[in-house]
Amino acid sequence: MDNLKNVEYGLEKIFEGAQDFLPLLGTDYVEFYVGNAKQAAHYYKTAFGFQSLAYAGLETGIRDRASYVLKQDKIRLVLTTALNSESPIGEHVKKHGDGVKVIALWVDDATKAFEETTKRGATPFMQPTVEEDEHGRVVRAGIYTYGETVHMFVERKEYKGIFLPGYQEWRSDYNPSPVGLKFIDHMVGNVGWGEMNQWVKWYEDVMGFVNFLTFDDKQIHTEYSALMSKVMANGNGRIKFPINEPAEGKKKSQIEEYLDFYEGPGCQHIAVATDNIIETVTQLRARGVEFLSAPPQAYYDEIPQRVGAIKEDLEVLQKLGILIDCDEDGYLLQIFTKPVEDRPTLFYEIIQRMGAKGFGAGNFKALFESIEREQERRGTL
Ligand code: FE2
Repeated sequence: MDNLKNVEYGLEKIFEGAQDFLPLLGTDYVEFYVGNAKQAAHYYKTAFGFQSLAYAGLETGIRDRASYVLKQDKIRLVLTTALNSESPIGEHVKKHGDGVKVIALWVDDATKAFEETTKRGATPFMQPTVEEDEHGRVVRAGIYTYGETVHMFVERKEYKGIFLPGYQEWRSDYNPSPVGLKFIDHMVGNVGWGEMNQWVKWYEDVMGFVNFLTFDDKQIHTEYSALMSKVMANGNGRIKFPINEPAEGKKKSQIEEYLDFYEGPGCQHIAVATDNIIETVTQLRARGVEFLSAPPQAYYDEIPQRVGAIKEDLEVLQKLGILIDCDEDGYLLQIFTKPVEDRPTLFYEIIQRMGAKGFGAGNFKALFESIEREQERRGTL
């Protein structure tokens, strides 16, 4: 793994460099602003195996929006849509299309998280706010990160309800089975030309994160296009946010395509972990999830030499289009969906880590060539 050789990483390293003014317990939820939350919820249940969890809308006394909360193991997604033309949610969808609005982080003290980050330069989105119902109290506070994307701090140690105050349990007669998605491994942000280092510094200064891996355009390029990426992680390594910016190439970078269609910076992909990628991807394909095309035969022919021995049957991985990479700690298996909306913006990664801590740098070339085949078809390369 030449790409990783010169980069220092490892959990102890992260912990040493990171600041402890913002202890994060994990990802609390991811909220999308969408054009039609009812239909999007159906898609996430049917295609990705998420389970109905909670609902807020007209029936629960909320007049301006409807939100559907879905769950699979530790992952919670919230799909929110506007109920009138005045709503900032509708404005967000008009500009960006369906996309990630909130990456919520679970904390012990949301007020302190807000104070520490705004003191260090974060732009407030929501002042610390207490919400209560018969199940207890939750404190939430939010700050802006790249573009119009928000980090919401969620303090729920005094809450026993299904999700948040104001939500009621969503019982459905339609409950497709889960597909084995476990937790969010990382979430990637795309930022504008030359803005990557500014956001790296923001995550260092404001959030106390450390830069734990770096890929430059010499490592991430194809014949046609390039990008640069730095991976930011918090002190306990549970939260990992790679930040991408486009780089000059002969043709248009996939990051530039994203920025054009999202009309600004935003979340590019959500990587979700499974402990059986063969089973998970078999299920997802059967349910209609579309993946990027598999790399050519030569890619799989090189695996024994490049990666070494793996437990899985290489033929099965090839049939499903799953990519394989390794670093000094082990290997990983990963695959990428096509964008899940009509604008070529947000997509998903399914990842199974067999010890490896990297992000599949050895697959970047094969992956980006596959993305470029899609860009070619969209006329955006
Ligand atoms: Fe990724």
